[in-house]
Amino acid sequence: MPKLTGFPAVALPGPPPTPLLGALPHLLRFVDDPIGALRRLRPYGDVVGVVRDSPALVCVFGPERNREVLSNIRLFRNDEEFLPWPPESLLARMQRGMVAINGDLHKRHRRLMQPAFSRSALRSYADDIVRVTEGLVTKWPRGQIADLDRLTRDLALCVAVQCFFGLDVLAGVVELGELAAAYVERVVSPLTMALPFDLPGLPYRKTARLGTRMLESLGALIARKRTDAAPGNDVLSLLLRAHDDDGTGFSEDELISEAATLFVAGHETMAKTLMWALFALERHPAVLIDVLDEVDGVLGGRTITPEDIPEMPLMDRVIKEVMRVFPAVPITFPRVPAEEAALGGVTLPKGANVIVSPFATHHDPELYPEPERFRPERWETIRPSTYEYLPFGAGPRTCVGTAFAQQALRLMLPTILQHARVSLVPYQDVSRRTRANILRARDGVKVRVQGAHRRRVEPAPIRGDIGEIVALA
Ligand code: HEM
Repeated sequence: MPKLTGFPAVALPGPPPTPLLGALPHLLRFVDDPIGALRRLRPYGDVVGVVRDSPALVCVFGPERNREVLSNIRLFRNDEEFLPWPPESLLARMQRGMVAINGDLHKRHRRLMQPAFSRSALRSYADDIVRVTEGLVTKWPRGQIADLDRLTRDLALCVAVQCFFGLDVLAGVVELGELAAAYVERVVSPLTMALPFDLPGLPYRKTARLGTRMLESLGALIARKRTDAAPGNDVLSLLLRAHDDDGTGFSEDELISEAATLFVAGHETMAKTLMWALFALERHPAVLIDVLDEVDGVLGGRTITPEDIPEMPLMDRVIKEVMRVFPAVPITFPRVPAEEAALGGVTLPKGANVIVSPFATHHDPELYPEPERFRPERWETIRPSTYEYLPFGAGPRTCVGTAFAQQALRLMLPTILQHARVSLVPYQDVSRRTRANILRARDGVKVRVQGAHRRRVEPAPIRGDIGEIVALA
């Protein structure tokens, strides 16, 4: 868990503590709704305490501050004990995945992962991505109401299980995928994080058990892969074969940790990006019709291949704009200064928690005029820098799955649109909810599913605070 108490006061702008209750209400409000909190904090400056003078939680704003924090991973380190698992548990032993390691070990893990995300590896995942997407989307319940959050989650989950682990998802339910999904859902619950005690009735106990089963299941899968006669081409098989110049590869624990990390980091982010993309297109029928024209014009009804991607410039702009307006990761993991750190005129003590926000950056009107307007055409004329547009983070800890995700989204979205259309159920509440730094829809997004068609459908009215993120007619 990030350390949030016991800091000396430093001169930091921000809202004053609440009378009697102090910093706690501000910290809780930030955890509950970081996007709302970021809006309130922005007017205070570039380096702002969630509570004035407290380095417990500090937000930075603007490309220059983003660069200072994200590029210097020697000074601004990731927290190594982000999740409070019991010290002797399997979960603690396995908590050595990419997001919880630093320094040379982090560099080594990234190096060992490179072959799994090389150009040739990416090409080899493409057919599976399309086959699994087609297999699932053609089964979406036509004429019925469904939760878009659930549909896209299942899709991303199955693509991840297939490409990361090489398990044939269309052949049946894969226990590992279900376990991982259930684990992720629970591990991000604030109650699990706030009460990390292995006691009956507390969600922490159930989460720890699910996590342990997931890791055991991964361990068994790795053991099977080691003895398989034919080498697989999935991510896990490539990680198994990865080695340094001196011939050493990942240890067993590292392998399980990294496989779980990739799976958790990869499938939720992909799922939410697809969900917000379908939401944004449904709300902007003129853009949707143009996109459908482009997809039909290029594919003419056949199955997409990676070679088709460069032929779809509008699809590219739509995906960039979706990831600008609705970044699946609106705030980074906290960065913790290893020693006193000067940042934008403020000196932060060792151990402070510093947050960079892709969301706040993408909604900065100085970088993106009318930031709440969903306007894919803005990408015809803008080329933001790495620290102005960072849906995949930036610097040496940029998302390792960037190339995988970029390709998968550009294969999956056209495939979905070839087979299905969705219309939002009128008057529902669509509101944001950020949990474990992922941008979700608080109550999902209810849609009526239809077969593919080209008619323009005007969006029905909806309610909810999503209108603060994206301007809706
Ligand atoms: C649309 C999809 C995705 C988005 C928006 C996304 C976003 C991000 C962001 C913003 C970060 C940086 C977090 C930080 O700085 O604290 C990150 C890191 C990471 N992502 Fe992704 N990601 C996506 C897909 C994936 C996929 C498919 C994988 C795995 C194949 C993956 C694995 C990781 C890992 C392991 C890290 C940690 C890197 C490190 O600390 O060195 N992500 N991702």
